[in-house]
Amino acid sequence: EKGTYAHFMLKEIDEQPIVMRKIIKEYQDEHGDLIINESIRAAMKSCDRIYIIAAGTSYHAGLVGKNLIEKLAHIPVEVHVSSEFSYNMPLLSENPLFIFISQSGETADSRTVLVKIKEMGYPALTITNVPGSTLSREADYTLHLHAGPEIAVASTKAYTAQIAVLAILAADSAQARGYDLEFDLFQELGIVANAMDVLTAQKEELEQLTRDYLETTRNAFFIGRSMDYYVSLEGALKLKEISYIQAEGFAGGELKHGTIALIEKGTPVIGLATQANVNYSIRGNIQEVVARGANALIISMKGLEQDDDAFVIPAVHELFTSLVAVIPLQIIAYYAALHRGADVDKPRNLAKSVTVE
Ligand code: F6R
Repeated sequence: EKGTYAHFMLKEIDEQPIVMRKIIKEYQDEHGDLIINESIRAAMKSCDRIYIIAAGTSYHAGLVGKNLIEKLAHIPVEVHVSSEFSYNMPLLSENPLFIFISQSGETADSRTVLVKIKEMGYPALTITNVPGSTLSREADYTLHLHAGPEIAVASTKAYTAQIAVLAILAADSAQARGYDLEFDLFQELGIVANAMDVLTAQKEELEQLTRDYLETTRNAFFIGRSMDYYVSLEGALKLKEISYIQAEGFAGGELKHGTIALIEKGTPVIGLATQANVNYSIRGNIQEVVARGANALIISMKGLEQDDDAFVIPAVHELFTSLVAVIPLQIIAYYAALHRGADVDKPRNLAKSVTVE
């Protein structure tokens, strides 16, 4: 039930810190150690490469997950859009492990891949919000998102839950493979949950930014580098699917290779700056678009902020910035859709789970 909320989407955005704490609780034993099923741990230990298969927002979570698994557990990971993978398979490694990421567990494109790779005899793990779902039943292993039902068509809390569960899986596999973590995972995720509380309480500021930057525009661009690039893709998807503003996410450095031609006076560009190692370069990209007339809305992280930044996110561990950077983008998308009178929870032409190929 929506309770006092006007829309499920806003309720689900607000539930994200609660879901984060629920995941911390569910995946931790009484000694503070990770709880990952032994057979999943063994599969992560013995594989030589991971193939993440997903669609839409879940694909965007997979991109972040690849980084977490590679950086923490040192296992090579490829991320594929399920609809493409099913007819254009890359060369597979000798001992692949497939990870399906799906909120609903019912996405037909992903299931087609699952059926195929099971026929080929490969192991599969599904990360889903619905443990009894098709993708969960047909895979060898399941990890549960514990996000509670997600009703709004636009996925919000499932995205952050997917990234958190992938972080836990990555950290567990790191330990299983003998790599020491240089931080306390659950403590860092707790800091993320607190930052989420701060962000979900800043709706008025974000609604005003939406008015200032997106109220009448036909298009909008999102740019970021590294982890912020993946969040840019997700921010653009969220905005376009519910507000119908044409929105695209780009890697900051890729802009000058074509897209910058679209920047004119007043074009909104949402620039993300949460990554210390690329802060200088993304700032350069933002200056490039501003020089061509763009209306740049800069969202940065505490510690990296500069005078002109419109919005500053509380600091979290650099591997987990996507969990918090996405929240202002979700809220901005919500208000952009609301101000345009769009049906926020049920955007046109879309279904909650896409059960056709
Ligand atoms: C976007 C959105 C979709 C889904 C995609 C995959 O907000 O919700 O892009 O992420 O259809 O759905 P699942 O995760 O159920 O496989």
